[in-house]
Amino acid sequence: MMNKKTAPVGVFDSGVGGLTVAREISRQLPDENIVYFGDTARVPYGSKSQNTIIRFSEQIIRFLKTKEVKAIVIACNTASALALDAVKDEFDIPILGVVIPGAAVEATKNRKVGVVGTEATVQSGMYTKVIQGMNPEITVIEKACPLFVPLVEEGFKEHQVTEEVIEYYLESMRSTDIDAMILGCTHYPLLRSKIRAYMG
Ligand code: DGL
Repeated sequence: MMNKKTAPVGVFDSGVGGLTVAREISRQLPDENIVYFGDTARVPYGSKSQNTIIRFSEQIIRFLKTKEVKAIVIACNTASALALDAVKDEFDIPILGVVIPGAAVEATKNRKVGVVGTEATVQSGMYTKVIQGMNPEITVIEKACPLFVPLVEEGFKEHQVTEEVIEYYLESMRSTDIDAMILGCTHYPLLRSKIRAYMG
């Protein structure tokens, strides 16, 4: 039995995208050990039902518990949005998610925030719920961008196709006057510079 100090923190995602979260945890808490689980066999989660995402999350949490983790970070926006509420009271260790829109809530001056995420994340409305729970005066415009994940996985970060897909998804959002935007998916920050260039 490991003690609290040496027990690792479990981190999981639907694939490898959540490694960026694991890296940030290591940067901020260099003494912590991390056990990472990337569900590359069943990615993507973004097109799956809530029941499936909850079931996958429960299975992974059970697996991570066999590694004697002391806490779990769900480093997947889709699983955080759709499964965190269901699993957090089911297990006897702390479970945290990554739907944390505080920076955008603080950054927006005109109280209009855009959120992009997977189909499942956007349909859950979780970002709108959390943002408006922090400030009910903020208008949230959410848009699912499902093709961003395969584009990143294909290594198409600099490809012209990616620019066209960004335009296809974000044209309507660009014509609004949002002044802050949340990239609510593990893969989207890899397109940050292209999205920023398009959105101005
Ligand atoms: N990890 C997922 C997320 O952050 C993106 C990939 C997927 O659809 O599983 O929403």
